[in-house]
Amino acid sequence: MACTASLSLWAFAFSLCFGLSKCYFAIPLKIYPGKYNLSSAVNLTRQVALTSDGNGLSLASDPTGTVNFLDMVNNLQGDSGRGYYIEMSIGTPGQKLNILVDTGSSNFAVAAAPHPFITHYFNTELSSTYQSDGRTVAVRYTQGNWEGELGIDRVSIPKGPNGTIIINIAAILSSDSFFLPGVNWQGILGLAYPMLARPDKSVEPFFNSLVQQLGIPDIFSLQMCGAGLSASSTVDPVGGSLIMGGAEPTLYRGSVWYTPIVEEWYYQVEVLKLEVGDQNLDLDCREYNMDKAIVDSGTTLLRLPVNVFNAVVEAITRSSLIQDFSSGFWDGTKVACWMKGETPWRFFPKLSIYLRATNTSQSFRITILPQMYIQPITDVDGTLDCFRFGVSSSANGLVIGATVMEGFYVVFDRAQRRLGFALSSCAVSGGVALSEIAGPFSAADVAANCSGGMLKEPLLWVISYALMAVCALVLIILLLLLVLPCRRRDRSGEITDESSLVRHRIK
Ligand SMILES: *[C@@H]1O[C@H](CO)[C@@H](O)[C@H](O)[C@H]1NC(C)=O
Ligand SMILES: *[C@@H]1O[C@H](CO)[C@@H](O)[C@H](O)[C@H]1NC(C)=O
Ligand SMILES: *[C@@H]1O[C@H](CO)[C@@H](O)[C@H](O)[C@H]1NC(C)=O
Ligand SMILES: *[C@@H]1O[C@H](CO)[C@@H](O)[C@H](O)[C@H]1NC(C)=O
Ligand SMILES: *[C@@H]1O[C@H](CO)[C@@H](O)[C@H](O)[C@H]1NC(C)=O
Repeated sequence: MACTASLSLWAFAFSLCFGLSKCYFAIPLKIYPGKYNLSSAVNLTRQVALTSDGNGLSLASDPTGTVNFLDMVNNLQGDSGRGYYIEMSIGTPGQKLNILVDTGSSNFAVAAAPHPFITHYFNTELSSTYQSDGRTVAVRYTQGNWEGELGIDRVSIPKGPNGTIIINIAAILSSDSFFLPGVNWQGILGLAYPMLARPDKSVEPFFNSLVQQLGIPDIFSLQMCGAGLSASSTVDPVGGSLIMGGAEPTLYRGSVWYTPIVEEWYYQVEVLKLEVGDQNLDLDCREYNMDKAIVDSGTTLLRLPVNVFNAVVEAITRSSLIQDFSSGFWDGTKVACWMKGETPWRFFPKLSIYLRATNTSQSFRITILPQMYIQPITDVDGTLDCFRFGVSSSANGLVIGATVMEGFYVVFDRAQRRLGFALSSCAVSGGVALSEIAGPFSAADVAANCSGGMLKEPLLWVISYALMAVCALVLIILLLLLVLPCRRRDRSGEITDESSLVRHRIK
């Protein structure tokens, strides 16, 4: 009896130790490979409506006149499935490469060796200005990882601010599941804060260098135009805009709603509430931010902590007219198909995320229509239209990925430590807006701090070391307790406590 109890305590201590120290620093890049096949013709020509409601940001036009935001409109290509990328010219003479825009990491890294899934790479030997600093660097993402060498070189962005800057580059020499078949990018631009930079925060991220060297405002904004279009199709990618230095009023409608950046590492925000249709999920708001809630262009889907995900699926199932949906659809292993022309969106509710407003006693909500999270993927045999579920469960926090971001023009106002959301001018399908934004709402019904109780580096290290020390101590005591009395028993041929412990750990 005592043995069983202490063994399960042991197992618990073990899983606690390992669970906490595991994977903490995985960066949530999660791009769906281009494995889907689209044979139906889709009109991918997108027009940016060049109309402004005059409700622009104060920084919309740069007073010095050195940055012309209109020159940056449509400087991105890609889709939510394969990611959005921008063309850059790296080295001297410039080598042109496509670089994935990722707001969920902080290294600038480019392929510097051949790889079967990429067409070309940055040849450091052909650049007279490349300087290696001899250090190696490795970054692990939720999906894939790479290793390389740190160096510096000159970079310019043809459809970006004028000028050449000197930046840190990680030259990728080997990688695993990082470059994927069908992607048309050869590098990654991590736009998050220095705290996430590898090997440490002294490696100044690209955007910090850009702001410092060109003197542009410390703001960038992103419009990704894949809403409602087939993800990971084989057709030409759609576009988007990365405006560096401010926000371009022609890319959004209505006003910009701001939410504070809780902590400057990822773009961490505070989610107060989730609604499926008109129904509030009514979970403790800390569940939504467990262990963090971030805005990440390098993640394809809307990812939700397991509890939240289950509640969302249950609420959708209840409110949709389709009751007997295969569970494979929800967990992303199956697609759902309808007869051609019979779109399924009317069966599904809207999803709303409430974010803390800059007036912390208020919130605003961003809403996506089913067209954005029930995503067309492929045309199986010409008579069916198939869709995947654009929401998935997550073990490392809530991620507002491309599925949601495509509905909005998102302003990363680092200068004022806040993120802005406005209706994207391109999140429209057949004249119908695919996203909504509304506020302000009172936040009196939620806790004052929904991001509380979260651990992060370097505090996390201290805590996990402390925990490990406690674990080790507990283990030693348990071992001593176990070895002595247990010896006398455990002689039967049945499953012993020990073997069941092993089984539990294997699970
Ligand atoms: C896509 O599917 C069509 C019809 O099923 C097939 O003919 C075509 O070869 C496929 N294309 C790719 C790239 O797999
Ligand atoms: C695609 O859209 C563009 C711009 O809206 C339009 O000019 C063109 O005619 C469309 N093509 C088709 C095949 O619908
Ligand atoms: C770069 O400079 C050129 C010439 O001065 C100007 O026309 C262009 O608008 C500038 N581009 C940006 C993005 O500021
Ligand atoms: C913030 O919101 C509260 C509640 O809606 C309101 O009473 C207060 O005046 C607001 N504060 C500011 C500075 O706008
Ligand atoms: C909420 O809690 C987190 C973690 O304890 C802390 O970092 C953050 O500053 C808090 N926010 C506010 C507004 O107090």
